[in-house]
Amino acid sequence: MANRLKRINALNYICLFLTLVPLASHLEAKVTKSVFGDTSDGTKVEIYTLEEGAIKARIMTYGARLVSLEVPDRDGKVADIVLGYDNLAGYTDNKESYFGAIVGRYGNRIAHATFSLDGKRYQLPANDGVNTLHGGIIGFNKLIWQGHEISHGVELTVVSKDGDQGFPGTLTARVRYTLEAHALKIEYFATTDKDTVLNLTNHSYFNLAGEGQGDILKHVVMIPADRYTPVDAGLIPTGDLALVAGTPLDFRKPTAIGARINDDNEQLKLGRGYDHNYVLNEKMGTLQEAARVTEPTTGRVLTVETTQPGVQFYSGNFLDGTLHGKQGHVYALRTGFCLETQHFPDSPNHPKFPTTELKPGQTYHEATIFKFSTAP
Ligand code: GLA
Repeated sequence: MANRLKRINALNYICLFLTLVPLASHLEAKVTKSVFGDTSDGTKVEIYTLEEGAIKARIMTYGARLVSLEVPDRDGKVADIVLGYDNLAGYTDNKESYFGAIVGRYGNRIAHATFSLDGKRYQLPANDGVNTLHGGIIGFNKLIWQGHEISHGVELTVVSKDGDQGFPGTLTARVRYTLEAHALKIEYFATTDKDTVLNLTNHSYFNLAGEGQGDILKHVVMIPADRYTPVDAGLIPTGDLALVAGTPLDFRKPTAIGARINDDNEQLKLGRGYDHNYVLNEKMGTLQEAARVTEPTTGRVLTVETTQPGVQFYSGNFLDGTLHGKQGHVYALRTGFCLETQHFPDSPNHPKFPTTELKPGQTYHEATIFKFSTAP
């Protein structure tokens, strides 16, 4: 009798084990690594593939870029929803559009390519008229990061030397991409050995109908922000935190991107469409909703959460059909949009904006989550 009970117990354990093992392996994203290509100087660029259920993300070490992101629609049909290229040369040889890149050291613009810190003036390379855009001529988007596999994803590290693109301090930046529970999380860490300024973001262009599937004007956007930072003709913030109420920049109620994009509005004219930083309403440093975007024909929904104080909503106004991306798709005007979670543009020159300073002994830590679901 006792032996029989033992046998039944053992059988129960085996059954439990057989049920739990496949469950556990389903929950943990599968991570694989391969070579994506060689740069012109012969450096190997690796690509990490993260797979969880039907979602698949590929991240390469050149620019720590999100190369592809496959997500199911309401019928389970999978499409790649980020713009980019099929091979490394596409990224290195074409005009820089920051497809999928980690942008640094400073995301968006620094006016007149200069700022002061601790009473000292720093000069940066100007690469956008007289201003510095996205970290300078050789920003983090063009560096080869060191990758290694972590649970659910990949961690990428880069060391930027003191004086790199004019910025002070040796900066060590680490970015973790992980895929878990139908969401792609990007976590940022950085330390410095001298006082410096820093603003890291990811510059993925989304098209929730699938990259190459036309413009994004019918995507319905919600941004829960009462204010934004208006810009001048160089797309530099004026310093105001203006109310969105009564303007075509108000996305507090879900609205199609195309509904008002051609309205007679000075800010839309300056941006050639939406290219504006929204001031998120809640407390900094805690995850809060920054945006929700729904694509009506496929039902794909993207929800963005972030610890950052701002989000740059960019409607792909500089895409002009000259870039031919994945499978030769022509990336015409407004065929992708970006939601760059960030500190405000030109913060080093605006003492009233949330600070972007980082000091030795401090660790910069921010996180952004892109969550995927579907709507009927
Ligand atoms: C950001 C900027 C835009 C543009 C793109 C890159 O989103 O705000 O003005 O420079 O990057 O083309």
